[in-house]
Amino acid sequence: MLILGIESSCDETAAAVVEDGSRILSSVISSQIELHKPFGGVVPELAAREHLEKIDPIVDEALAKANVNLKEIDAVAVTQGPGLIGSLLVGVCYAKALAFGLEIPFIGVNHIEGHVFSVVFENPAIEFPAFALIVSGGHTNLFHIPEAGKYKVIARTRDDAAGEAFDKIAKMLGLEYPGGPIIEKLAKEGDANKIKFPIAKISDGRPDFSFSGLKTAVSRYVRENEIEKVGEDKVVSQEIKDIAASFQATVVKSLMKNVEKLADQYHPKTFIVAGGVACNSALREAAELIGNRLGIPTYFPSKHLSTDNAAMIAAAGYFHLKRGERSDLRMTADVSMRLQNLENEDAELKRKKVRYRL
Ligand code: KG4
Ligand code: ZN
Repeated sequence: MLILGIESSCDETAAAVVEDGSRILSSVISSQIELHKPFGGVVPELAAREHLEKIDPIVDEALAKANVNLKEIDAVAVTQGPGLIGSLLVGVCYAKALAFGLEIPFIGVNHIEGHVFSVVFENPAIEFPAFALIVSGGHTNLFHIPEAGKYKVIARTRDDAAGEAFDKIAKMLGLEYPGGPIIEKLAKEGDANKIKFPIAKISDGRPDFSFSGLKTAVSRYVRENEIEKVGEDKVVSQEIKDIAASFQATVVKSLMKNVEKLADQYHPKTFIVAGGVACNSALREAAELIGNRLGIPTYFPSKHLSTDNAAMIAAAGYFHLKRGERSDLRMTADVSMRLQNLENEDAELKRKKVRYRL
């Protein structure tokens, strides 16, 4: 079964051709990083316009690289949400029109579920129950997955996503967007034990994540120690490198602390770590270590599949299509789509006025 995957939820226009849900014939990504760099973050309107320009040529390129023509495609899988509305709509409308014209099935895929499926290409089969830590610019969630397709959020961020924290700290230090890769690079030359930044404690005792306190702590440290931002000359001081290393270590520690605690309760057999922040080698090392301690394998996607891509969307789409699920032409983009179909605690959290992110 050949699936054309389409992803346009944020600032990457991507298309991929995937065979039987696990063999990538092509995966093409057009990143908008350069477009948004001057603004220090993604500008939604610009992103949507750029998707519109790029989607057709990117799909053509994916088909050409896979050496297949449109008539050979069996189904289309497209990111339905969550994401930016203008960006999502471009992919959704394109996918619907294409599937309608070709008279083939199509399916809307949850972007976060896509990230979970990003590990299926390069790792042995997932053993369930599994844990999936999805860490990206928009999301920081730990899922308990008792069986394929069933998701329970067992930890979530109360404020910033992990990747967002990297991006904001980078901006604060005068570094470029996106912050994650730059902070990781500088951290390699810095001392992670130099500054003790706090790990957030959640007052109601839930095993959630929080990064806004860390952001404030870094900001205070910079102010109190009169640290100079990186300027036009791009010269990075040792102090900045130490901040990068100490900040990164704190993020990694706070993510891993909850994973380990919850693993004692849920006994996962596989630990999946995916999303843009999963590119981070310090996080990879720490996650590997936790997996070893728990006696379970840790699966990561390679870098190309860690950040937003369409192969993961095709893989998740394949899983649903195989189960007979289909979307119809009434399907539309869902900005705040959730990935939680098991013991959903949303209502309880709302009742208790717990503020949290997706
Ligand atoms: O998954 P992704 O491409 O897009 C979202 O769905 O958000 O993730 C992008 C995020 C950005 O915040 C970026 O700073 C972060 O992933 N990121 C990293 C690294 N590479 C990308 N964070 C830490 N270390 C990295 N090496
Ligand atoms: Zn993503």
